[in-house]
Amino acid sequence: MREKRILVTGAGGFIGSHLARKLCTQGNFVRVVDIKWDGYIEEPYYSEKLTLDLRVYENCLRVTKDIDWVFNLAANMGGIGFITQVGAEVMYDNVLINSYIAKSCVENKVERLFFSSSACIYPTYKQETPEVKPLKEEDAYPADPDNYYGWEKLYTEKMLEAFKKDYGLDIRIARYHNIYGPEGTYKGGREKSPAALCKKVAEASNPGEIEIWGDGKQTRSYCYIDDCIRGTIMLMESDYDEPLNIGSDRLVTIDELADIIIKISGKKITKRYNLNAPQGVRGRNADLTLVKKNLGWSPTINLEEGLKRTYMWILSQIRKR
Ligand SMILES: NC(=O)c1ccc[n+]([C@@H]2O[C@H](COP(=O)([O-])OP(=O)(O)OC[C@H]3O[C@@H](n4cnc5c(N)ncnc54)[C@H](O)[C@@H]3O)[C@@H](O)[C@H]2O)c1
Repeated sequence: MREKRILVTGAGGFIGSHLARKLCTQGNFVRVVDIKWDGYIEEPYYSEKLTLDLRVYENCLRVTKDIDWVFNLAANMGGIGFITQVGAEVMYDNVLINSYIAKSCVENKVERLFFSSSACIYPTYKQETPEVKPLKEEDAYPADPDNYYGWEKLYTEKMLEAFKKDYGLDIRIARYHNIYGPEGTYKGGREKSPAALCKKVAEASNPGEIEIWGDGKQTRSYCYIDDCIRGTIMLMESDYDEPLNIGSDRLVTIDELADIIIKISGKKITKRYNLNAPQGVRGRNADLTLVKKNLGWSPTINLEEGLKRTYMWILSQIRKR
């Protein structure tokens, strides 16, 4: 890849900070923008840093100026606890950010725009049992996402399709499936299941007990951050301009996920189930046929290894506090 002038939005967040760091080490000019900087990467990972609210069109125009590639990762989002509770704010904020970024990319003649969509766009009726079939990209329609966040992501996918058709905007869309790893949100209510469980186990006494949301039989698949970043850059460098899954196809129950983390901790921990807590869909897995065929990408870091790195990082953060 020749050196480029790149914008990463949401670069104060989990995936954006990892992505910006990687793009920087590849020798690109990397402008980063976020509304706040409470992420965990300490060393500078950018060429230029701006603190701006991307719900304002003028700010989007400013950040996309003189830029070749935009990776739009800014979003008001969180784990299942957050997105089942907050609807209007998520839809309003993200529709504004995504619309203004797309429009300003056209205005500033940006060469290519990447959008971080989500497995949450897939319909509820395809995710009703723990033993689900992996979700293929074509399964998105007829649409019936399980939450408002998923509807917003699907809307933005369609909007970008229209921008491609009407304005010739070159787009890339990844549908991320549960990305996890060190230097991600692990406290505050927006954390996702791997980080939430790592924190509970790290904070538990030995012997101790942790709470599991739901009956533990619900299933998911998890993709380690380094694999996600590699896939994201490969997608941006490719000619493939339809939505593509980036995730793992190893399906585990939440119980299994917790057991792996407990084993890593070396503690003796029992699980208590909270059946009133939010759980999301009953089962969700990623079909990787298209991404393997079109990018030659598949995940390489297995769940045990990825969780070990994540657990050790969260433990170190807790000890620091
Ligand atoms: N982490 C996952 O498993 C996952 C799965 C599917 C999709 N995604 C998508 O990937 C992207 C990045 O996710 P993440 O896990 O890094 O989330 P994150 O919450 O860590 O990062 C998002 C960043 O966007 C910033 N932001 C929010 N509103 C803003 C605004 N008005 N102006 C400027 N910046 C603003 C936040 O401050 C935050 O730093 C998001 O679009 C998310 O929806 C993530």
